[in-house]
Amino acid sequence: MRTDCRVCGGEVREFVDLGRQPTANGFLTPEEADREFFFRLAVGVCGRCAMVQLIEEVPQELRYHGAYRYHASGSAGHRQHFEQNARRFLDTELTGPDPFVVEIGCNDGVMLSAIAEAGVRHLGVEPSTNVAELARAKGVKVLTRFFDETTAAAVRAEHGAADVVFGANTICHIAHIGSVLRGVDELLSPGGVFVFEEPYLGTIVERTAFDQIYDEHVFYFSVASVRAMAERFGFELVDAEHIPLHGGEIRYTLARAGARVPAPAIASLLADEAARGLSEPETLDRFRRTVEGVKDELLALLRGLRADGRSVVGYGAPGKATTVTNYFGIGTDLVPFVVDSTPSKQGLLVPGSHLPVRAPHAFSDPYPDYALLFAWNHAEEIMAKEQEFQAAGGRWILYAPEVRVI
Ligand code: SAM
Ligand code: TMP
Ligand code: ZN
Repeated sequence: MRTDCRVCGGEVREFVDLGRQPTANGFLTPEEADREFFFRLAVGVCGRCAMVQLIEEVPQELRYHGAYRYHASGSAGHRQHFEQNARRFLDTELTGPDPFVVEIGCNDGVMLSAIAEAGVRHLGVEPSTNVAELARAKGVKVLTRFFDETTAAAVRAEHGAADVVFGANTICHIAHIGSVLRGVDELLSPGGVFVFEEPYLGTIVERTAFDQIYDEHVFYFSVASVRAMAERFGFELVDAEHIPLHGGEIRYTLARAGARVPAPAIASLLADEAARGLSEPETLDRFRRTVEGVKDELLALLRGLRADGRSVVGYGAPGKATTVTNYFGIGTDLVPFVVDSTPSKQGLLVPGSHLPVRAPHAFSDPYPDYALLFAWNHAEEIMAKEQEFQAAGGRWILYAPEVRVI
């Protein structure tokens, strides 16, 4: 069992164990079901630098490869968000002569395609070759490699310094985070910024969003832990903003130490985290007990519905559904299948729990009595699209922050 902090080497204390789990996006065919990879999904907090992180990790090659299932452009909300991000960079950080932006984990080019359209020099670093191809088809320049200090040196040698290094839902995935920060140090221009947007520990705890915990999310950042990490590697946290993606994230901006004036938001966010005792053992232990309560309640609800002969279908097969179904032990006896709009997930099985994934049309053929909303972070978009389901008497089941039927 790992007890050394990946950032500072301090001791990591475990506070929650979500059991034996497969890789969250490792959707599989029925033939592959007997050779699945499992590990123990447990999370701890570093007593020295407060970084919350997985106890065990899955090798990166098992998570990111030529059949990576997560496509960032899958939701209209995400497309709009990343288009706005691109606009913002073009209007602020990328206004000098011949600017250059690097995105770590550009996936299918959801952000960089807008940069490419504007004719600005850019490079995506993306190890998952299937999604990298999708980005290339949109005119995005991509290097299919894992980002680390060696990759950063190669990019710098070929393209020169970057004005912006960006990452979204990627930096918290990289276990060798020290190498990432040394790489950014190598690559970034003196006045450049390293901006990353990642799930926020504060939201995970507040909303009991335990399903954000899975193999790909190695770190669960807070403003305090990111600030400490930045300082350790010669950077300074100069901005932090809440953003609504994935149920609640923070966009962090790092600059070289002393290069920019930190925004006042940082002090207030740090004060808020301290007042809540966000990284304190008592808070994190309370989180575990709340999660255990949700498990008991949701299982009782699903078993009751089954006993009453009511039908339940899962809606959305995000990585989060893997955590929930495996930790709760939800199999096809309780939820016979899930629907998901991602073509590459359809026809496959949810990792570990082996719920079949079907195309969205299976949802209305006929409508079930209840829909368990695994993609709860897209609730608004999905419920607007599925108004007929509710009009036909269907009810949604939500489980974060608590079990609710609406
Ligand atoms: N940026 C997109 C977004 O926010 O929707 C995609 C996020 S996706 C969850 C994470 C991406 O990071 C995957 O495409 C994965 O292949 C990539 N990735 C994982 N490890 C990486 C590394 N060391 N360097 C660069 N990209 C990496
Ligand atoms: P995400 O929470 O990681 O973005 O994943 C959301 C999943 O939900 C993804 O697999 C696509 C799926 N989805 C649908 O099936 N229908 C929808 O309308 C939306 C927005 C997402
Ligand atoms: Zn630490």
